[in-house]
Amino acid sequence: MEKLTLLSEIETDTFKGLSAKSKYLLPKYFYDDIGSGIFQDIMKMPEYYLTDCELEIFSTKKKQITNAIKNGDTSFELIELGSGDGLKTKELLNYLVKSSASFKYIPIDISKKANNELVKNLRQEIPGLNLEAKTGDYFQVMKQMNGYSGIRKIILFLGSNIGNFTNNEIDLFLNQLAGFTNKGDKVLIGFDLKKSPEVIMKAYNDQHGNTRKFNLNHLARLNKELYADFNLGNFEQHTKYNPVTGEVKSFLVSKTDQTVRIGAIGQSFRFKKWEPVFMELSRKFDLETIENMAQENGFKVEQHFTDKRNYFVDSLWARE
Ligand code: AVI
Repeated sequence: MEKLTLLSEIETDTFKGLSAKSKYLLPKYFYDDIGSGIFQDIMKMPEYYLTDCELEIFSTKKKQITNAIKNGDTSFELIELGSGDGLKTKELLNYLVKSSASFKYIPIDISKKANNELVKNLRQEIPGLNLEAKTGDYFQVMKQMNGYSGIRKIILFLGSNIGNFTNNEIDLFLNQLAGFTNKGDKVLIGFDLKKSPEVIMKAYNDQHGNTRKFNLNHLARLNKELYADFNLGNFEQHTKYNPVTGEVKSFLVSKTDQTVRIGAIGQSFRFKKWEPVFMELSRKFDLETIENMAQENGFKVEQHFTDKRNYFVDSLWARE
């Protein structure tokens, strides 16, 4: 019997993505509990240099970052979008508390599990921290929090999460950020920088097979949640890097002619042999592009904090 009820967001997105001429699935659905666990494994791999580089920036430059965001003794809200396990932020939080900064830390994450663990952990490790975690999609939470509180805001968006956005999504995101902030508020955004394609390919096409597992888990999630019948063995993962645009693109390629039924939406989808499904964009940037991006969206670059290899930058912008 066909389903008559309205489709949920994941059902609609999956239907749209698999009906498109060039098939795609949205990367936001990577992160169910299993996918979040696989992403933790990715971050622990030495090949996935991004986490180590940003941790290095936060541990070696916390004094400079603190000075740049503290602005005398005025109070502020430190709002982190997509806080996850807060590994890098902890370095900064510790230093801010020790230097008697007057601030409240507001981590926002879609995962209740991640948030609960972060709160538990921070209460133990940094007892003096003023903390208010919020669970939900950060676009939605920002909307709910909107309105002039009179308190300065510092927004953190780390981990090169911005690299997973298309140009349109970046514009939308920065536009919303500009609407959410007031003149003088600051944002610190993590960008992965262009570097040797070999280094990048090792991070996104790892020999341990974690990236492959991460992508295939998306299909496993659809099998579980949308009653799909993907045979995971019928797909192979492929990554390519374009050094001109800085785009890493990840695909699952159908190894055979096959039809997959998605029970929850009452539809079947045909995959031709070697047909790709676009899974994720992980863009790499250069400083010029970052500076233009800030300027076009009402922000001024104040400082770039980089690691010693210049692989990654946390770029501090002030709202004009
Ligand atoms: C979350 N995001 C910044 C990661 C990235 O590097 O694009 C997700 C990821 N995909 C494959 N490996 C890691």
